[in-house]
Parts: sequence; structure tokens; C-alpha cells
Amino acid sequence: MSETNHSDLTPSQLTDLQQRAIAVAHNAHAPYSNFRVGAALLLEDGSIVTGCNVENASYRLTTCAEQSAIAAAISQHGPAIRIRAIAVANLNSTASQPCGACRQTIHEFSTPNTLIFFPAQDGSIASTTVAELIPGAFILKK
Ligand code: THU
Repeated sequence: MSETNHSDLTPSQLTDLQQRAIAVAHNAHAPYSNFRVGAALLLEDGSIVTGCNVENASYRLTTCAEQSAIAAAISQHGPAIRIRAIAVANLNSTASQPCGACRQTIHEFSTPNTLIFFPAQDGSIASTTVAELIPGAFILKK
């Protein structure tokens, strides 16, 4: 994983995506974990779609921010979308990468080069690709 390989996006595109992820995190429903997360997707057609985590009193029904954003993107643009980049942010100023389930969900609508930006341990923004994030993704062979 790299903290400097942001070259596929302009600095202003990345800043915009991160700011949108932070903004949508304020809408999160996270009364159980108090960990509010936002995700902003840049689609290959240039559209941006956001989502936040939505928790439930029955904890296992929680939806992660990345999954909310992807569900919104499919709802708005249809199933042929491809994600160019994702920014994930939280309001706790803590390092956080997409969970395992989100990695598989992201993989479904990505290319191997899709970029994922997330908060790193040292407070910087790190980036990685889907190929690095989930090298052993499940693929259904028909
Ligand atoms: N969460 C996300 O929204 N995305 C992730 O990738 C990791 C975890 C949420 C789920 C739950 O609402 C809270 O963070 C604490 O796990």
C-alpha cells in the first residue's frame, strides 16, 4: 500500500472526494459504536455518490458506509457502474480501512486499478488498489 500514489486523481479531486466523505459521515446513524463513517465514490463517468454507516439495535443489521454508497450508486446509475476511486472517512480521527465485507462489495463494482483512500495510522491519507485490498476476492464462475 502506498501513501503517495494518488496520481490518478488530481489533488483537488481527492480533496473534494475526502470532503464529501467527511460531510456524509455527519449523517451516519451510529449510536451504538459512535463511529461515524462516510464514503464517497467517484464513478468512471465522473459522477460522485456518497453513503454513511447505518446501525441497528440488532447490531448485525448494520450497513457500512461503503456499502451504503455502493447501494446508492447502483440505485441512481444502474448496475453497470465502475468505481474509479473511493474516499473513506470517519469523524473519530482514527485510522480505518474498509472491512472484509466491504472489500468484497467494492470489488464487485471496481476494476483492479480502482483506488481506495483511507485514514492511515499517522494521520495521513493512504491509498491502495482493489487488487491489493482483496487479492482473493470471491468470483462466481458460471
Ligand atoms: N464501518 C463502516 O462503515 N465501514 C467500514 O469499513 C468499517 C466499519 C462502520 C460499521 C459500524 O457502524 C461502525 O463502523 C463500527 O464498526
